Amino acid sequence: MAYSVNSETINNATEVINQLAIFLRTAKVHNINNTAVISATDKFVSLVNNIIGLENTIVLEIRGEYFYFNDYRIRYSPEYILNLDSLIREFKKVELGTILIKNKISPEDIKVFIGLFLKSHLSENPFDYLKDGMSDIASIQLKKIQTISDETLDKRKIVKRIYFNAVSFYKEIFNKVRNDEKINLKRAKRVITSVINQIIEQEQILLGMTAIKDYDEYTYHHSTNVSILSVALGRRMDMNHKMLIDLGIASIFHDIGKIEVPNEILNKPSNLNDSEWRIIKKHPKWGVNAILKMRSIDDLTINSAIVAFEHHMNINHTGYPQVENPAALDLFSRIVSIVDQYDAMTANRIYRSNPMSPDTTLRELQEKSWEKLDPLVFKFFVNMIGIYPIGTLVMLNSKELGLVFENNQDFLHRPRIMIISDNKGNWIKGHLVDLADKNGNDEYLRTIIKTMNPKHYNINLAEYLL
Ligand SMILES: [Fe+2]
Ligand SMILES: [Fe+2]
Repeated sequence: MAYSVNSETINNATEVINQLAIFLRTAKVHNINNTAVISATDKFVSLVNNIIGLENTIVLEIRGEYFYFNDYRIRYSPEYILNLDSLIREFKKVELGTILIKNKISPEDIKVFIGLFLKSHLSENPFDYLKDGMSDIASIQLKKIQTISDETLDKRKIVKRIYFNAVSFYKEIFNKVRNDEKINLKRAKRVITSVINQIIEQEQILLGMTAIKDYDEYTYHHSTNVSILSVALGRRMDMNHKMLIDLGIASIFHDIGKIEVPNEILNKPSNLNDSEWRIIKKHPKWGVNAILKMRSIDDLTINSAIVAFEHHMNINHTGYPQVENPAALDLFSRIVSIVDQYDAMTANRIYRSNPMSPDTTLRELQEKSWEKLDPLVFKFFVNMIGIYPIGTLVMLNSKELGLVFENNQDFLHRPRIMIISDNKGNWIKGHLVDLADKNGNDEYLRTIIKTMNPKHYNINLAEYLL
């Protein structure tokens, strides 16, 4: 992807899309000459013209479930997800895929556009209706959407919503704990229950959501990912529903002690020095304090406090905090410490310019950390995420490149792959193949020959996995 845009433009871009969503909604309820609509129009026009002044052109495009702004994918954050989602729905309804703006626009241009947009719903060919109506306005060009929609897209949508709901819930918890407010554990249980249900029905899609690491506000996503991966692992280990809820809640709070760590240290782009490390290493103890302060003591509190305290200890007690006469780690802690390390190592964090690919991380954990991790839990973990975890970039013997899209539980080395480059090296629109498929002579059609580093190819996982 081309990343030529600066951060100010990115903010503006998100704002343009957000504003367009608000503006469309306002125009739908009010008359087009209503003052609210006029002021929304003016705001939108000045935002757009501002960017045109900086960038010359604006290409606003839908790819899959995302908006792209001059080839830059607009990231979802909890504040914007509802508006972005509703705008994508509106665009799809009228089959609008791309808006291309080449010159400054006037409020009249936008008025014409909105008028046509709202009426086009009634037409049999909404896109043609819209495009014909706009043909006199030279500064704005429209292109039809490329459809790839099918049933799996709908399933993904539901999973995506549940994932982001969990993230925004965690963000809320984090802020409440910071402000010493009471936490609503009933809601926590509801969020975890919806995660558990999705794990039962769509485990692979949900695991795919945790594989996308370039979200903003990684701290929140990390805790959500750890909770999802822990619950998925617990389910693999045959835990019952009540245990899964307890595990889900305990794992979502594992890093809650980090609210005490100053942001400069938490988000430091370079390596930490000794004194900064000493502060980081206090987060398990701070976590226990925060959890005990949250409510009266019961099973849930105790489980969560134990996990917060133990998740960096390692089973051989080589980690932190160091205690005298340490006891064996709790099962929940052993689960959380594995998924926590995995998620952190694969993360695309500010201070980790080179995140490890999922398969390298697994190998690294296996080779370097085997005496620190519970071997049995680790085995379940590998079984769950596969030898080639979702999101791994692989080269096939057909010379095609593909991304691991879904694991095949019966053949861990033969997952389902989304092909993204053909055997001549041309990038192609992803299509799915199953590595377990054979030809008439009982030979596999495709086999993985090696894994590759997606960073080298500038591949954006989110674009394919969502
Ligand atoms: Fe931690
Ligand atoms: Fe963590």
